[in-house]
Amino acid sequence: MCGIVGYSGRAAAAPVIYGGLKRLEYRGYDSAGIATLDGGNISVAKKQGKVSSLESCAENLSGETGIGHTRWATHGKPSDTNAHPHAIGKFAVVHNGIIENYAELKARYFPDTDFLSRTDSEIIVRLLDKFYSGNLLHALKEVSSLLKGSYAVLVICADFKGFAVMKYKSPVIVGGGRGESFAASDAPALAGLCKKISILEDGDFALASASGVKIYDNNLNPAARQKIINRATAASLDLNGCAHYMQKEILESPSAAENTVKAFSRVQGKLKEVFADVARVIITGCGTAYNSGLVAKRYIESFARMPAEAEIAGEFRYKNPVITTGTAVIAISQSGETADTVEAAKLAKSLGAKVIAVTNAPYSALTLVSDVVVPVAAGHEICVAATKSYTGQIAALYLTAKLLASLNKKPAAQTMKNAKAEICAIVPLLTDTVAHTDMDALAQVCARADGVYFLGRDIDYAVALEGSLKLKEITYIQSEGYPAGELKHGTLALIDENKTAVVIITDENLAIKCENAVEQVLSRKGKVAVITNVTGCARRLKGKVPVIEIPPSPKELSPLLSAAAVQLLAYKTALILERNPDQPRNLAKSVTVE
Ligand code: M6R
Repeated sequence: MCGIVGYSGRAAAAPVIYGGLKRLEYRGYDSAGIATLDGGNISVAKKQGKVSSLESCAENLSGETGIGHTRWATHGKPSDTNAHPHAIGKFAVVHNGIIENYAELKARYFPDTDFLSRTDSEIIVRLLDKFYSGNLLHALKEVSSLLKGSYAVLVICADFKGFAVMKYKSPVIVGGGRGESFAASDAPALAGLCKKISILEDGDFALASASGVKIYDNNLNPAARQKIINRATAASLDLNGCAHYMQKEILESPSAAENTVKAFSRVQGKLKEVFADVARVIITGCGTAYNSGLVAKRYIESFARMPAEAEIAGEFRYKNPVITTGTAVIAISQSGETADTVEAAKLAKSLGAKVIAVTNAPYSALTLVSDVVVPVAAGHEICVAATKSYTGQIAALYLTAKLLASLNKKPAAQTMKNAKAEICAIVPLLTDTVAHTDMDALAQVCARADGVYFLGRDIDYAVALEGSLKLKEITYIQSEGYPAGELKHGTLALIDENKTAVVIITDENLAIKCENAVEQVLSRKGKVAVITNVTGCARRLKGKVPVIEIPPSPKELSPLLSAAAVQLLAYKTALILERNPDQPRNLAKSVTVE
């Protein structure tokens, strides 16, 4: 969702910013640009395409202060002109977010001006140029008071030997070292550059220069923000010999599960307090996080025997949700930044719900609105498609539901030690699954299909939705996740010889029912493959359809293994179709706008 990087120090700024943008490219990759400041002169290089398209022109940018941007277009198509930075007069800016009232501001302040770009962001630089009268902070404050929407903005001004920052609802971190200052959307940009970082709060401003970063609150009073360790290191971002981050991150799923189990102990006490009077749970999130929420719903219902609903965050935030006394909302987000999820959590909190964040980002907008944070310890996830973070979420949600069950003394209650041991027992099986599951043949079938349907029942249906999302996201093949039993109520009409169904079967009691769906697809000449850990099912179907066997596990923990299988399937299919699995078209990793 756009990445921004700022540098001011003693080194040439452009190469530092270029490196930071490369590490932030998962946030958007349709155009990129850098502006530098050298003795009061601002130079800009910007181009449509990936950050690498800047490599040659960035070399010509001189100066020890600069700002950069990698874009995921919201307003204005990807083009050289719409790429950031936008420069007018003494200013250049880069922006992550959306200025919702840009048309109104343009009509009010610049009715007769032809803007250079079709972006919402250009209004920021125009306003700065208009309101600046020698005091940069005052100009920032004045402009910020006019803007509606969300923004993390970096500004260079010909009169200031450094850069400025303003922040509202879009993330930005700042940090400083020996004679240099940095700002960025996210920690990986500063890997190897900055060991300690501070997270700016909404309404904050900052001035960054070779003498350090000064932070100001919304009233322009100096403000102190907590310094935290930047855990992103060059080593943590290395591909480790893998062809893509997606491959590397699928292989890291076992450690994501294991580390999440360890991290859970830290919050168990606090979580118990928050759960004390809870009688009902609503789970919310977007995309993969919502899909893991569907698994969590089943956990809470079956372990704690408590009513649980799963709601897509973008829907939840715009309805009038019923939050009764004793309602807890579990908000799931890998990034902790997803605007819909953060706003859903805020709404829930304002209506009196307890809010539990399940996130891979311990210091994020989501954690700020939560009563307790259940950590997902998956490490940085760079590939746009979520993989190991899903695994971590399932582990965290399993333990959360088990804790709720134990507090309510339900039959599924067990000691947390046992619940953790159950997940740890799956870890070697998961290691084996990610390393050895052979998806090549099925990937060939999917790559040739016009459409792929992922089918399952109960918990397998939740994984079917995730399999479908993963496949469509990185291969662009039309795909749907469907409850196996629903097929005959409509979707079967779509089946023909060009369609493929992937049926997930991990519940012995439902196997025969799911095999009916297999037969129904075969009868309509569709192709079918089955992912299963049910021995009888594998025996019955082998020879009839391709069967991919995953290791047996307790039913509730099967998503750890079946999701890894569908992730691998999506990855292999993307490779056959020569898609870049790490950077699928039209997408970005963190969606910080609506
Ligand atoms: O950071 P979040 O978990 O809040 O992100 C939510 C979705 O945008 C995300 O899961 C998206 O669906 C993934 N790209 C799916 O692989």
